[in-house]
Amino acid sequence: MTTGAVEVVVDRLGAAGDGIAEHTGQRLFIPGVLPGERVAVRPGAARGDGRAAAVVRRLSNAETRTTPACRHFGRCGGCALQHLAPAAYAAWKRATIIEALSRHGLAETTVADVLVVPPGDRRRAVFSAVGRKEGAAIGFAEAQAHAIVDLAECPVTAPALVRLLPALKAAFAWLLGSGERGQAIATLTSSGVDLVLEIGPAPDLAARERLARLATEADIARLSWRKPGRTVEVLVQRRPVQVHFDGVPAVFPPAAFLQASLAGEAALIAEVLAGVGNATKVLDLYAGIGTFSLPLSQRAGVTALEGDAEAVRALAASAAAARAAVLVERRDLARDPPDPSMLDRFEAVVFDPPRAGARAVAEALAASSVATAVAVSCNPQTFARDARILVDGGFRLLRVRPIDQFLWSPHVELVAHFRREAS
Ligand SMILES: C[S@@+](CC[C@H](N)C(=O)[O-])C[C@H]1O[C@@H](n2cnc3c(N)ncnc32)[C@H](O)[C@@H]1O
Repeated sequence: MTTGAVEVVVDRLGAAGDGIAEHTGQRLFIPGVLPGERVAVRPGAARGDGRAAAVVRRLSNAETRTTPACRHFGRCGGCALQHLAPAAYAAWKRATIIEALSRHGLAETTVADVLVVPPGDRRRAVFSAVGRKEGAAIGFAEAQAHAIVDLAECPVTAPALVRLLPALKAAFAWLLGSGERGQAIATLTSSGVDLVLEIGPAPDLAARERLARLATEADIARLSWRKPGRTVEVLVQRRPVQVHFDGVPAVFPPAAFLQASLAGEAALIAEVLAGVGNATKVLDLYAGIGTFSLPLSQRAGVTALEGDAEAVRALAASAAAARAAVLVERRDLARDPPDPSMLDRFEAVVFDPPRAGARAVAEALAASSVATAVAVSCNPQTFARDARILVDGGFRLLRVRPIDQFLWSPHVELVAHFRREAS
């Protein structure tokens, strides 16, 4: 065997999709391998509660192994699980939710089968770019590294966004000096592509003219620039940029949050509407630009709370244009959660927090007498923590529906329905 290499059998998949094996009491995280496979690996740097290890040679193949869909798999940081056959892949995503729930004493929960979105449905991509002497490279950051794999294809992302890559690569070649980094946040909306370029120096007049030509040639609906961490400056707006939530038109601010895939979003909306049922007064927390508020407003009066000023403005404008019954208010829900007496004015509460979850909101709900709660989450760990708070506060967790809109990544989205137990 190659010097420094050890032979191990992969025990299971970890949270990041890496294979996990134990060797002389040490945990090894091994990318690209599957449970049951025997592999020669070289242990490397410390990682979490173990060490990262690189595969020297795979000595056996699991029955669940399949051919990856993309030539970049293994080097590109976008995907972790293309080598896992579809049924085992869906089962693994479902198991991550069941495990998280079990850790909080909720193992008995009904977790439905995973709805997996089709390839090519991802409509929002954050491409990273780096300037090089010979041009620029553009793609997703390389797995476990800062290098960027120059993308020639991406079966996950919508073809309309992948088609932009050559033009973006050419633009970054003159926007970035050698070694400089930038990002392109591309979103496919109902009006076409919304593009935000994130680069340090402000584009000068000549660069702005070139970017205007790029927008026309690539038929980009709106092209903006922002310095990392700063507000966006729109450089070219060729038409108003809209999305539709269950058919209701919504204003889309540059690089705003949007559910990652169209099929995933449709499934999330359907699950939220089903969970809310016939409630006529609904509170939508972490409302964003109205993914749930606007569809809900077609059957109920909605109050929407959201922390981002731009999203609040957009949702208020969309609600006014659609004559929808949505009252929108800006609020930091972590620092200033609604108190139980405010919650009691609603028959149902929907909450869709960022990855950190909604502990303060869950505590307020637990102390309220709200009858129905619907949680949307992209993080099973914080969801399970918050679900425990609701259950301890008298809710029953009726069911969880996993929706895999992050195809071949280790992430999974879910919707959960809660109903207060009759006392
Ligand atoms: C996962 S997104 C969901 C947005 C929306 N429900 C949707 O589906 O498009 C989470 C939202 O929470 C908002 N947010 C994050 N932290 C917040 C906070 N502390 N208070 C209020 N809103 C917050 C973000 O701006 C974002 O719009």
